Amino acid sequence: MTKKNIDWGSLGFVYQPTDYSVSAMYKDGKWSDLELTADHTCHMSECACVLQYAQTVFEGLKAYTTPDGRTVTFRPDLNAQRMIDSAERLGIPPVPEEMFMEALDLLVANNLDWVPPYGSGATMYVRPFIYGSGPMISVAPAEEFEFRMICMPVGPYFKGGIKPLVLKISDFDRAAPHGTGDIKAGLNYAMSFHAHEVAHNEGFAENMFLDAGTRTCVEETGGANFLFVTKDGKIVTPKSKSNSILPSITRRSLMVVAKDLLGMDIEQREVPIAEVPEFAECGLCGTAAVIAPVGKINDHGKEICFPSGMDEMGPVLKKLYDTLTGIQMGTIEGPEGWIHEIK
Ligand code: PLP
Ligand code: COI
Repeated sequence: MTKKNIDWGSLGFVYQPTDYSVSAMYKDGKWSDLELTADHTCHMSECACVLQYAQTVFEGLKAYTTPDGRTVTFRPDLNAQRMIDSAERLGIPPVPEEMFMEALDLLVANNLDWVPPYGSGATMYVRPFIYGSGPMISVAPAEEFEFRMICMPVGPYFKGGIKPLVLKISDFDRAAPHGTGDIKAGLNYAMSFHAHEVAHNEGFAENMFLDAGTRTCVEETGGANFLFVTKDGKIVTPKSKSNSILPSITRRSLMVVAKDLLGMDIEQREVPIAEVPEFAECGLCGTAAVIAPVGKINDHGKEICFPSGMDEMGPVLKKLYDTLTGIQMGTIEGPEGWIHEIK
């Protein structure tokens, strides 16, 4: 194995084809065997259901190099399960967990040279997805699908690395109450593009979306869940009023880390926007974001400034960040079964 000659430290969160992707086709009611492919273009009908009706679901997870040179992934079984849940909701045939795991091993094992070295500041992002490739003109699911898993080395999701972000409360909604907000459907992200552009043009890094039904409680951003820390050190994460927050694997893991490893109090409950100025720290969490601190939130011209400030991550989130990334990179022992080694 010879690692690619890449300036790992200057990578952004940008697509980059690697040596291989993995693919399987669904036809006549069954999935084909998995195949490695060096063709990085998908081939489909001009009337593919994904093009006409956005029939696609995806996942996101990372592969890491440990200090002793192993290549590991973090709780991929939860990504497999969430993709099954997402697929079922969009009329897509689910990829069974064993097939997902086999695809992951095949993909990463054949792209080892692209997995960033330990300590480089970069990681390997893995993007599994399934889309309706078969033609469909009436409003109905496709009959043919492709499952693909692609990967690429990436740097931090937010430019500026770990500097606190400034968000705005969006006037748009990300997901309808009891709609598709709790699954990883491509359409949720298309929904957020305009809101994101508006926020960006106004100088904000991201949107805070509120619950679409009442616009009174915090939901999430376009690609990460929220974490708050109370002034007495409790971790609070929003529960959706209407089942429209994506169940982040990072957030679920952090709640276990906080409670079981660090002995902190945790709470998952509705978080009214009126309560947000009371918190000591705020952050976003997700696979791409890891934990990104939030310094300020603009609520229609009124600024909510967290005491942790605009220079660095607050101490409680930093402790969570160090513990989580330590577990992910194999320097801290996590709960059993969290690390899956690529052989
Ligand atoms: N929320 C949304 C809308 C996301 O797209 C993501 C990213 O996957 C997350 C939260 C974080 O989820 P996870 O920690 O499983 O990556
Ligand atoms: C991830 O964190 O894996 C996501 O899919 C979020 C996306 C905004 C990159």
